Amino acid sequence: MCGIVGYVGTQQALPILIEGLRRLEYRGYDSAGIVLFEGNSLTAEKSAGKINKLEEILRGKTFNATEGIAHTRWATHGEPTDLNAHPHFDCKNKIALVHNGIIENYRALKVVLEKQGHKIGTDTDTEILVHLIEEYYEGNLTEAVRMALTQVEGTYGIAVISSYEPGKIIAARKGSPLVIGHGQGENFVASDVSAILAHTKRAVYLNEGEIVTVTADGYVITTIDKVHRTPHVEEISWTLDMIEKGGYNHFMLKEIHEQPSTLGNAIRGRLNFEEGIPRLNGLNLQYDQLRRIKRIIITACGTSWHSALIGEYMIEELAKIPVEVEYASEFRYRSPVIEEGTILFVISQSGETADTLAALREARRRGVTVLGICNMVGSSIARETDGGVYIHAGPEIGVASTKAFTSQIMVLALITVLLGRMRHLSVQQGMDLMHSLQAIPEKVDRILQKEAEIKKIAERYYKTNNFLYLGRGINFPVALEGALKLKEISYIHAEGYPAAEMKHGPIALIDKNLPVVVIALRDSVYDKVLSNIAEIKARNGQIIAIANEGDTEIAERVDHVIYIRLFPCNFLPIIWRY
Ligand code: M6R
Repeated sequence: MCGIVGYVGTQQALPILIEGLRRLEYRGYDSAGIVLFEGNSLTAEKSAGKINKLEEILRGKTFNATEGIAHTRWATHGEPTDLNAHPHFDCKNKIALVHNGIIENYRALKVVLEKQGHKIGTDTDTEILVHLIEEYYEGNLTEAVRMALTQVEGTYGIAVISSYEPGKIIAARKGSPLVIGHGQGENFVASDVSAILAHTKRAVYLNEGEIVTVTADGYVITTIDKVHRTPHVEEISWTLDMIEKGGYNHFMLKEIHEQPSTLGNAIRGRLNFEEGIPRLNGLNLQYDQLRRIKRIIITACGTSWHSALIGEYMIEELAKIPVEVEYASEFRYRSPVIEEGTILFVISQSGETADTLAALREARRRGVTVLGICNMVGSSIARETDGGVYIHAGPEIGVASTKAFTSQIMVLALITVLLGRMRHLSVQQGMDLMHSLQAIPEKVDRILQKEAEIKKIAERYYKTNNFLYLGRGINFPVALEGALKLKEISYIHAEGYPAAEMKHGPIALIDKNLPVVVIALRDSVYDKVLSNIAEIKARNGQIIAIANEGDTEIAERVDHVIYIRLFPCNFLPIIWRY
């Protein structure tokens, strides 16, 4: 994913921009670039490859610039080359632009611009936009940007500077987040607060279709239709340590280890033991409104979609409300039937995922109450929903979602108890469930203490090309998530399946070279999972079982066992004891 950072003020811009780019590295990128306003002109350096390479190019050069913009690019249109890296320029090198998103109608615009005499030198969709701004420029950069954006179809978060109008950054967003960092005699623009957190904790999130003119002394926000907007400054609660590795080798490992505390944060202040009802005031729904819910749709993407599936199991089992889970990318483009009494939950760590946001807007257009389960405070999804619950997992810098996944499940469990208490669950059941949830952080901590043991298993299998993950019931979506994590991080092909489905095809793949992770907890389908294990063993498959502590029997049937106590996805069986 691309990243943007911009600075205008009195300090040297270069180190601030480079540091900002470094803080955005976690998003992934294949090239980086920077442009400074120096003297009377724009000076740029850009290169394919890592930020180190850009820094090497800049080493030894001296700059005296207090204004600039910078970018990390993840190639979509045009290969990751020096030429295609951002910033891009107009014909006279007077206007520079960095862009996140995709200009969908760039081909048509290119034809028109070339006829008008513009020389377009890169393969990117982005370059078109800066030429369009040039075309409209008549002495007012903000107006030229606004006019250009009226011609554009697609998504953008952009930052523009120009030697025509020094001391200004023009930024705008549609479908790609942008935040203004509010400083003293200096201001910032970024695609993500982590890029500017070292300098300011005061942020203004741009809304869809807004354009901002940022100077050292202030910023003016208007909509693309020229309506003036009053900025709402938010205080960012994150600290710098939260976005640093804190002694871990990488962010994903740090975030995995943060789970006991992030799970604790998800329930903190929300457990009302006296009434056995979780406090989720952010939902903005009264008890009678909660009782009237007839059906729930949950929509999300990727990992968040997997937690939605877990939510479906929990809510249907405990609150007896029908739940449907749908990929946001499907929901937004089809015509779903939404009956009276339906509410929609959207789940998103970032709060900015384009498909999830589009699904949310589609549902709101149809008059449905939309509630969010979100991590990023102030994100688009958090702002555009009718209510919701923050998961309070802190910044998830690692691209692979880990702590956000478990916190989403924790919040879904709280919602389940709340809805259940409005219907079938007694005070005692509500209380007991909340006690079980409260115990989860400590149980997760115990699992993390097994790191060395789990690492040994990983070392045994890391050269394998394929993996299968199996689970039944509520552990089926956990298997899907396990497979997703392995693919994403190890580049090992992995499939997640409901264990019983294995015999309908995937069983053909099983042999001594296929490791299978089986979630085999002591729940109502445990015996059935043991039968699946027998089927795998009959074909010499290698089995890594995840089983409950004390289950010595399973160790005789599989190759490795990782023992755990109850954890969120094993939350459901707790109620079966009543
Ligand atoms: O920020 P979101 O939760 O909306 O992101 C949705 C997916 O892109 C995300 O969950 C993705 O699948 C994970 N990062 C994978 O680990």
